[in-house]
Amino acid sequence: MRTVGSVQLQLTDYRALAREELSVRTAMAKQALGHQVLVLGHNYQRDEVIEHADFRGDSLLLAKLAAERSERPYVVFCGVHFMAETADILSRSNQVVILPDMAAGCSMADMAAIEQVDQCWESLARLIPVDETVTPAVYVNSAAVLKAFCGEHGGITCTSSNARAVMEWAWGRREKILFFPDEHLGRNTANKMGVPRGQMIVWDPFLPNGGNPVEAIRTARLILWKGHCSVHQMFQPAHVDYFRRQHPHINVIVHPECHEDVVNKADLVGSTEFIIRTVSAAPAGTVWAVGTELNLVNRLKREQPDKRVFFLSSTVCQCATMFRIDAPHLCWAMENLAEGHVVNHIVVPDDEKVWAKIALDRMMAVS
Ligand code: 13P
Ligand code: SF4
Repeated sequence: MRTVGSVQLQLTDYRALAREELSVRTAMAKQALGHQVLVLGHNYQRDEVIEHADFRGDSLLLAKLAAERSERPYVVFCGVHFMAETADILSRSNQVVILPDMAAGCSMADMAAIEQVDQCWESLARLIPVDETVTPAVYVNSAAVLKAFCGEHGGITCTSSNARAVMEWAWGRREKILFFPDEHLGRNTANKMGVPRGQMIVWDPFLPNGGNPVEAIRTARLILWKGHCSVHQMFQPAHVDYFRRQHPHINVIVHPECHEDVVNKADLVGSTEFIIRTVSAAPAGTVWAVGTELNLVNRLKREQPDKRVFFLSSTVCQCATMFRIDAPHLCWAMENLAEGHVVNHIVVPDDEKVWAKIALDRMMAVS
């Protein structure tokens, strides 16, 4: 890395560059950095970004990689903010995590603020002995401070690929789970575990007692936060019906952030990694309708030409925040790094880090 005297490169100078030039320059910066940098790409990232990733995967896989690759001082995380925060929590203190665009957030993560979760916990505490009876379980699609809340209150994090194991762990310790911020992942997982509907309630953070009668709170085993993914909630049962009519032998595979009415009509449900693995391992000639983010499905289509792969809905768009990481942002971050400038450094405060890591470590131990 060159450090002395160089000036930080400006993002505006990258916006108008042609894709080929950005690709070549990013590859050159990466080569110059060698083993100093690890580029991670979530399965929803654009091809122009994925082509530079050392590894691509789902949230769980990327979190594990960030923890394992401690020899790489710089981790350029091509995903969304909560994923980069997780990488910062799990990586060593000498590692630096970079998110090429700080505006790459997650609308679901924004649906639970720490003030709301604190308020929910206090409301529960007025009705039940909350610390002895409720395990908070937070989907990794959440701010670090919420992971810290779970660590501090005997709770745990989960991803879409280990939600069931996490819920089993949580119920093994206390009688109730407060699951946030995605009600669908929580409900779909509990449905698969055979939890009766009457034992689940939804907590609306904008209503007193989450909008629930006191008795329902006392008897509930699963308290589902009213939150959702703006992308996955757009898939409808009618989309499944349409493809089944068009292709009687079609296999429908969806992400567990979809509504239960969609999940219940699907043949298979699982994380982005599960979806890729399943379709890739399927026999040639099979037909698939896939209910998850568009970039992943388009790539799957191209990489599996011996199968017919359809996107489950023509009206669902990409994840707008994942889409923010593009070739100009990546090239800008990488060239700056090669010049000795760290841009968009993700730093989780130490007090949050300690508790959040406890919640994440509990998850790693059960997955
Ligand atoms: P995965 O954990 O399945 O990669 O999902 C992450 C995500 O944000 C889905 O919307
Ligand atoms: Fe968040 Fe949904 Fe985008 Fe995943 S697809 S990052 S849950 S908004």
